[in-house]
Amino acid sequence: MYNIAVIPGDGIGQEVVEATITVLDKLPIDFNYTYAQAGDKCNEEQGVPLPEETIKIAKEADAVLFGAAGETAADVIVRLRRELNTFVNLRPVKSMQPEKYGNIDFMIVRENTEDLYIGDEEETPEGAIARKKITKAASEKISEYAFKYAKDTGRSKVTAVHKANVLKLSDGLFKKTFYEVAEKYTDIETNDFYVDATAMYLITNPLDFEVIVTTNLYGDILSDEGAGLVGGLGMIPSANIGDENGLFEPVHGSAPDIAGQGIADPVATILSACMMLDYLGESSYARKIEEIIIDVIQEGTNVTPDLGGNASTQEMAEYIASKL
Ligand code: NAI
Ligand code: MG
Repeated sequence: MYNIAVIPGDGIGQEVVEATITVLDKLPIDFNYTYAQAGDKCNEEQGVPLPEETIKIAKEADAVLFGAAGETAADVIVRLRRELNTFVNLRPVKSMQPEKYGNIDFMIVRENTEDLYIGDEEETPEGAIARKKITKAASEKISEYAFKYAKDTGRSKVTAVHKANVLKLSDGLFKKTFYEVAEKYTDIETNDFYVDATAMYLITNPLDFEVIVTTNLYGDILSDEGAGLVGGLGMIPSANIGDENGLFEPVHGSAPDIAGQGIADPVATILSACMMLDYLGESSYARKIEEIIIDVIQEGTNVTPDLGGNASTQEMAEYIASKL
């Protein structure tokens, strides 16, 4: 039996998490769900976007399934990642429709604890200053993770992404550390690009990428770009992993433009649950669900509007569940 903390959050977070539970409930695995509050609605009701009780539930669970927060996202998900010490954010950019988007398949390994996302901002007489934190320890840890991930999954190349030509001390340290760690992995090819060039290469040469390792902000931006390459934000899952905790969430936010309509694509969250199954050591079920999703998208009828169908979020999830 696994204890899962479920934090649906705001907007479509509620809808895609409910859909995902519909799929998980079809597996012959015992899940004990503990629901917890966070986000804009929680902030209105309780005066805090992320109650201590929610942090406690998340810390005590075997894994956390998260939907999305709205405007309070920084105080919710960024804080949760820090509280749970999940130092890596894995964001697979994988085409589920190769005939439409090509065989794009790369992993973004995003540092999850520092960079500009420490939120250290200060007003000054002229405007404001934000501090960017890059440490040797975190750069080493994330680079190690990326190389080990590449080795374990049979990938042959790791690309570091940074802006070390301008940010010489901070991104410079990240790049230098990456190459130091690379020395231990002689069988894996390495290269590095500036983030701006990478933004272009992802569009012009997406098949050249296998594993990208990068700092927090660039990883955030490039993963949304990656989503655009393979069918949109409804398709990209993520895993936040630390030494003691795992939190799984779609890359997208609360999507207020479509919230409440029941048309959100549940795939990103269901695939996040697959990453959770991998983390829990239940990989065979993760692969099975992924295969079903590919088939269902290929069939093209029982899918949400972004995938060309007119099924609701819940209908698509029920159809996927029915194939398990
Ligand atoms: P968003 O990811 O919510 O939406 C961007 C676009 O993608 C919208 O057009 C939306 O309709 C579409 N989209 C997103 N998920 C979809 C899905 N499952 N199916 C179909 N279409 C989908 O990002 P946006 O609009 O920048 O932010 C909206 C709110 O979400 C903001 O309040 C923001 O702070 C929050 N946010 C929260 C995140 C989190 O909790 N991890 C991450 C990103 C944004
Ligand atoms: Mg983002």
